[in-house]
Amino acid sequence: MDFGLTQKHALVTGASSGLGLAIARALLAEGATVTLTGRSDERLRTAIADLPEALRDKCDFTAVDLGDPDAAPRLAEAATRRTGQVDILVNNTGGPPPGIASTIDPDVMRTQYGAMVDPVIRLTLALLPGMRERGWGRILTVASSGVVQPIPHLPMSNALRSTLVGFMKTLAGEVAVDGVTVNVIAPGRIATARTAALDGAAAERAGKPVADIARASAASIPAGRYGDPDEFGAVAAFLASKRASYVTGSTIRVDGGAIRAV
Ligand SMILES: NC(=O)c1ccc[n+]([C@@H]2O[C@H](COP(=O)([O-])OP(=O)(O)OC[C@H]3O[C@@H](n4cnc5c(N)ncnc54)[C@H](OP(=O)(O)O)[C@@H]3O)[C@@H](O)[C@H]2O)c1
Repeated sequence: MDFGLTQKHALVTGASSGLGLAIARALLAEGATVTLTGRSDERLRTAIADLPEALRDKCDFTAVDLGDPDAAPRLAEAATRRTGQVDILVNNTGGPPPGIASTIDPDVMRTQYGAMVDPVIRLTLALLPGMRERGWGRILTVASSGVVQPIPHLPMSNALRSTLVGFMKTLAGEVAVDGVTVNVIAPGRIATARTAALDGAAAERAGKPVADIARASAASIPAGRYGDPDEFGAVAAFLASKRASYVTGSTIRVDGGAIRAV
């Protein structure tokens, strides 16, 4: 299947590792050019150096902290400078700390809003007009299975990502007629540094070895294992493709069956 991405330019945030990097890799493999972002020049350079040689020439990077108030305009400008346009925006951010809803620190939550929600909305609004004018665009936002089935000990993640789901669903209805699709991807448990850190925190809470926690967690997933980041990237590349032109306003689960609700 030809995804039709060879003339397309994507901006992928949170792309120095994990899910964002896997999405960038999948888009590059389908022929798109990609601007990767993260907070650290060095980590982005390393991520690009580890890509297959044939893909390296098709990417560049800009280091920006999404928590900075001017992150969105800086990123939009830098990504647009390269090819004159951004056709595909992949909104991916760092995740908030775990905690208990009843003892949450609202100041921390406000800071997390500033790094996970506010820049995503601003970046989307900055790049949307060009997509609408050209009659083609793809906006993908990485959320979590927690937006369908809230995850214990992740109250900020459950709440803040649900804000984005509500925003993106509303936006999808406004811009579908202009050829711009807007979708959310909900990972269950995909093996990344973030999943390892959360397993570490759960092991500490339970006073158990982290391997026991990870084994029990994998066993609770119908697929019997954590997902591979490339399995996640492949779904994102499809949603970004020309072939996915009639998929919009959806929250697509990539969870090995972990979410039990229909
Ligand atoms: N993996 C899963 O199974 C899973 C499940 C549900 C939800 N999620 C969510 O999906 C997102 C990606 O997950 P992941 O597993 O790929 O996590 P990850 O491996 O920790 O990657 C996070 C990425 O975001 C970047 N980042 C973090 N904070 C940033 C900031 N303030 N400004 C700019 N970039 C920032 C990191 O780059 P630098 O550190 O270099 O800046 C990195 O590239 C996270 O929000 C995570 O909570 C993941």
